[in-house]
Amino acid sequence: MKKYIVTGGAGFIGSAVCRHLVKDKKCAVLNLDKLTYAGVPESLKEIEDSKLYRFAQADVCDKDAIAALFADFQPDAVMHLAAESHVDRSIDGPAAFMETNIMGTYTMLECAREYWNTLSDDRKTNFRFHHISTDEVYGSLGTEGLFEETTSYDPRSPYSASKASSDHLVKAWFHTYGLPVVITNCSNNYGPYHFPEKLIPLVILNALDEKPLPIYGKGDNIRDWLYVEDHARALVTVVDSGRLGETYNVGGRNERTNLEVVETICDILDELRPRQSQNDECSLSNDAESSDQPTNVAKSYRDLIIFVTDRPGHDARYAIDATKLETELGWKAQENFDTGIRRTIQWYLDNDWWWRPLREGRYSGERLGRA
Ligand SMILES: NC(=O)c1ccc[n+]([C@@H]2O[C@H](COP(=O)([O-])OP(=O)(O)OC[C@H]3O[C@@H](n4cnc5c(N)ncnc54)[C@H](O)[C@@H]3O)[C@@H](O)[C@H]2O)c1
Repeated sequence: MKKYIVTGGAGFIGSAVCRHLVKDKKCAVLNLDKLTYAGVPESLKEIEDSKLYRFAQADVCDKDAIAALFADFQPDAVMHLAAESHVDRSIDGPAAFMETNIMGTYTMLECAREYWNTLSDDRKTNFRFHHISTDEVYGSLGTEGLFEETTSYDPRSPYSASKASSDHLVKAWFHTYGLPVVITNCSNNYGPYHFPEKLIPLVILNALDEKPLPIYGKGDNIRDWLYVEDHARALVTVVDSGRLGETYNVGGRNERTNLEVVETICDILDELRPRQSQNDECSLSNDAESSDQPTNVAKSYRDLIIFVTDRPGHDARYAIDATKLETELGWKAQENFDTGIRRTIQWYLDNDWWWRPLREGRYSGERLGRA
């Protein structure tokens, strides 16, 4: 049975990867996670009792701890997702991003290399180190064009610069030491178990709490959205079948402006969980004209939208060309944005046991990353 170390497996994407590997692929997983503010062990509830699943609380910068886990677990592959992942937090405090994303990746590479050197020829050939990265390393697009695997790196935020650095380290370990690596660069993810600091869950949960729905700038920045379970399948496809030393872009061909995303969430919530009627009090509504309208007319969540100062250095547009992954490895996204966002909103409506403690204890929606 194939054995995978997944770093950052208590995070949003890592937990989807662990669930997919254990539930669908019946593989053995060691989830190695420090449990920072973004680590949520409850996201692994569906698999935590499985014999195939193990958890170890460890920091990817802690070489001794990581080396001991490699020696004990004897993985066939490493999927390295552990990172500081929120651009706004990287603006407020870049140090943790440099430490975890750059030095942590360096430490993982060194531990993987030392372990890999101890393997038999057969296991050595089949071993993989997979670095999970972002399309943000490519910088910002104008109105035309797509990011391809050959697009030059041009990171603009401390977060994307740290991920670009770690991509370069991974490529260097391939060329210099022959460590068998693959890299994926993916667009924005959304879906269940998404920490409520990111745009989509923040908007869903603020709307349910009747709080303002903040949109940076004019809301015209474009992101290319991918449902997290499609990403998890793509990652396992690449670590199992990708060509050595290659990069694969992952994306869902679902470009939306931030304003379109927020309006879509409002419209679906209007249908699934209508707001109170017009004459009920809504202290945070920014619709100044609402009191002139007739009573008992259902209000829309769109009335909660407000426009706030833009993020410094906010990239205008990201869009991924995933042709290589689709044609070479046969992966295809199963959800489009319209189906995926509806599933996501329904999941948040059904699973307040998961998000309520995070909103009350760890992050309640305050503005981050103003520089
Ligand atoms: N979220 C996206 O849209 C997106 C898109 C493309 C790529 N990525 C990349 O995918 C990966 C996962 O992203 P995510 O959104 O799931 O992140 P996340 O913030 O939800 O989870 C990160 C996880 O890493 C763990 N972690 C952080 N520092 C650690 C350390 N020093 N040692 C061990 N564990 C540590 C955290 O506890 C958490 O469980 C990241 O590498 C990110 O750059 C994310």
